[in-house]
Amino acid sequence: MAAATTVLISGANRGIGLGLAQAYAALPNHTVVVALRNPSSMPTVKTGEGSKVVVVKLDAGVASDAKTAIDELKSKHGVTKLDIVIANAAIMHDFASLATIPLEDFEQMWRVNTLGSLALFQACVPLMPKGAKFIFMSSGASIIDRIPDKTDAGYGITKSAVNYLARYAHFENPDLVIFSMSPGWVQTEMGDRGARNAGLEHAPTTVDESVSGMIKVIEEATRDKWSGLHARYNGTQSKW
Ligand SMILES: NC(=O)c1ccc[n+]([C@@H]2O[C@H](COP(=O)([O-])OP(=O)(O)OC[C@H]3O[C@@H](n4cnc5c(N)ncnc54)[C@H](OP(=O)(O)O)[C@@H]3O)[C@@H](O)[C@H]2O)c1
Repeated sequence: MAAATTVLISGANRGIGLGLAQAYAALPNHTVVVALRNPSSMPTVKTGEGSKVVVVKLDAGVASDAKTAIDELKSKHGVTKLDIVIANAAIMHDFASLATIPLEDFEQMWRVNTLGSLALFQACVPLMPKGAKFIFMSSGASIIDRIPDKTDAGYGITKSAVNYLARYAHFENPDLVIFSMSPGWVQTEMGDRGARNAGLEHAPTTVDESVSGMIKVIEEATRDKWSGLHARYNGTQSKW
């Protein structure tokens, strides 16, 4: 049997990350590494034939955790390569204008969403073979060229920076496929909070719709298709 495809997802105990972990684990011959700030928070996930889930501790807000997690993956779990990495873990504080956002809220979002994604990228690159894929989870809130519909610039800036990381890393690493991805407005704790703020009960997109779309985009992604760009879950290209 061919070596298992190894997929690492940060923040995979709930929301979109959990949906991605469930979908990849259900496939045959996949090792799904879930990197969580609280390892005991991972629900049981059904696995396909020859597949397994490996849990490692990773607090995306602690820069050194990414390297420690990858070292543990190698030494304790024998994982020596990563085919797909999805830097998914993120936080969004309550909406606030730039004039009023508490600076410590902005700093914490920056630490988890942006520095955390960069730290994960740095830790994973040595284990990524030619053609491996690194996906930075972005957001429609990252788009500079938009008319703001809510006061989410603090969060949006951290995701704009993630887009920058993805595009720059694409040029710096010609052997890898690297892009940012927007999952849609999705029915999770974060997405529904945004929906309530906009006067809606729920976000419009289900986790299943978002996840199945993103997995198709990731599957089809090559150096010539999506790498260096900002993809949306439905296979369309996002503005920057
Ligand atoms: N939902 C949407 O509509 C939407 C739209 C655009 C972009 N996104 C992006 O999609 C991704 C997933 O969002 P979601 O909607 O699934 O959010 P969510 O339901 O709030 O889940 C966030 C996940 O990130 C984890 N996380 C938060 N801080 C962490 C940290 N310091 N270290 C490790 N893990 C941490 C959480 O773990 P804990 O349980 O430990 O907190 C949880 O697993 C995020 O990057 C988000 O910005 C979401």
